[in-house]
Amino acid sequence: MDYAQAAPTKQFFVSMLTRDISLSDAILDLVDNCLDGALRTANGVKVDYSKFFVNISLSSNSFSIEDNCGGIPRSIAKAYAFKMGRETDDDRDMDNETIGMYGVGMKRAIFKMGRDAIVKTLCNEDAYEVPISSAWLDNKDWEPLPIINTKQEDNLKTPGTQIHIESLFPGVAKHFGNEAFINELKTSISEHFTMFLQKGLSISVNTAPVEPVLVEVLVSDEKDGPLPYVFEKTIDNVIVSITVGLNTGRGITDDEDSPEFERDRSSASAGWTVFCNDRAVIVGDKSRLTGWGDGIPLYHYQFSIITGIVEFRSIYANKLPVTTTKRALDTSSDIWLQALVKMKEGMRIWISYTNAWKNHPRSDQTQYWEKSTPMPLRSAILRISQLAGATQSKGVIEYNPQKQKKIPFPQTKSPSSRKIIYSRPNEEIRLVSKSFFDSFDEKPGIVGERCFELILSKIQKGEG
Ligand SMILES: Nc1ncnc2c1ncn2[C@@H]1O[C@H](COP(=O)(O)OP(=O)(O)OP(=O)(O)O)[C@@H](O)[C@H]1O
Ligand SMILES: [Mg+2]
Repeated sequence: MDYAQAAPTKQFFVSMLTRDISLSDAILDLVDNCLDGALRTANGVKVDYSKFFVNISLSSNSFSIEDNCGGIPRSIAKAYAFKMGRETDDDRDMDNETIGMYGVGMKRAIFKMGRDAIVKTLCNEDAYEVPISSAWLDNKDWEPLPIINTKQEDNLKTPGTQIHIESLFPGVAKHFGNEAFINELKTSISEHFTMFLQKGLSISVNTAPVEPVLVEVLVSDEKDGPLPYVFEKTIDNVIVSITVGLNTGRGITDDEDSPEFERDRSSASAGWTVFCNDRAVIVGDKSRLTGWGDGIPLYHYQFSIITGIVEFRSIYANKLPVTTTKRALDTSSDIWLQALVKMKEGMRIWISYTNAWKNHPRSDQTQYWEKSTPMPLRSAILRISQLAGATQSKGVIEYNPQKQKKIPFPQTKSPSSRKIIYSRPNEEIRLVSKSFFDSFDEKPGIVGERCFELILSKIQKGEG
């Protein structure tokens, strides 16, 4: 009997694997592995993230990432870790909210960056390294990779893993030598891993620590104060938690007309942020993806004070609504579609809130929020589920502040003030400015306001 070769060629495999992932997403995959490692060390007990670090250094010559997240057990290295794709009998993580599921992340990241890599680890006092060399890559066969015991003096200091990559591809080397790329990477890390950073994890990029972005909703400290919308339900072994409320942006406190205010309106935390097992998959989304413009008005600056947070949590990573790169939503998933219905329910409440306050002075609105605390999703749900009014049945928590009449509305229905906007030629404004203020250069808004005041006082005095 003759046989036809059917195995993939290495070159095809490597080029396909790395094609659809961006360089920074590939690096985030390596950080994901560190966090999965930290979770495994805890064995089901709550992880104290302040004990863990991930240090990334990159330059146009090399890339390296080092963690103290427990290392790779030799048995796992032999059977699973370096395989391209997960084995069906790999039933680790049955009880853990880890994110690794495909068995490609580490290899893909290495192949994306360069041609010579060494994975070095210390696990349970066993120190070894696995080189993935250009010679191995150039060899047509899928030879197993050697596991080499590390010399004592080269051992990692604490149980963990270090991946060092050299012979970077020219495009990669260029990015790594570019400050703009490094800043973009830091922003991705501070968004994507915000929950872990907030729990004390330390991540550094070229020795600079990365700070978390805060995504929070305002929760009143007072008994009858305004509270965000909350919903939580377990769907198909995934806990879905949602909150929608107002953010701490300057939106409700600042001068509406200042340019700074306008800039802040598009702040990162406005819109929707989606977490899957604590990773932020998208941050501050204001597009149709999260319902804007889909039975709900399109996002615009009036809504910049609204923040929504959704979290999907499961020990079955493959049930989470994420794509294979884990940085984008799988919007066709049924769990996502069910969540979207509730997300829109929450959004409508706060959209009508901003409509009601649209033409009222901001200070009237602020008074209701003076005694409130910005809270991340979990704390908000915890606090609201403890308060009377949140329905709790069969694992479902639901709180609708509109139904509970906890949304502050303006005292008067008709707007207490309206905006007047008009344009006049520059020269005319300067002329009126000179006449009122003895200067040609007073701000147009102030000149316009003085004109109005003048006419109003004439009318009030019966002179108009
Ligand atoms: N930093 C690390 N700490 C501990 N174990 C690690 C680390 N990096 C990789 N591993 C081990 O290597 C294995 C393979 O990692 P890889 O990222 O390729 O696949 P995965 O995480 O299982 O799945 P996915 O492709 O979805 O990320 C992991 O399952 C883990 O056992
Ligand atoms: Mg992985």
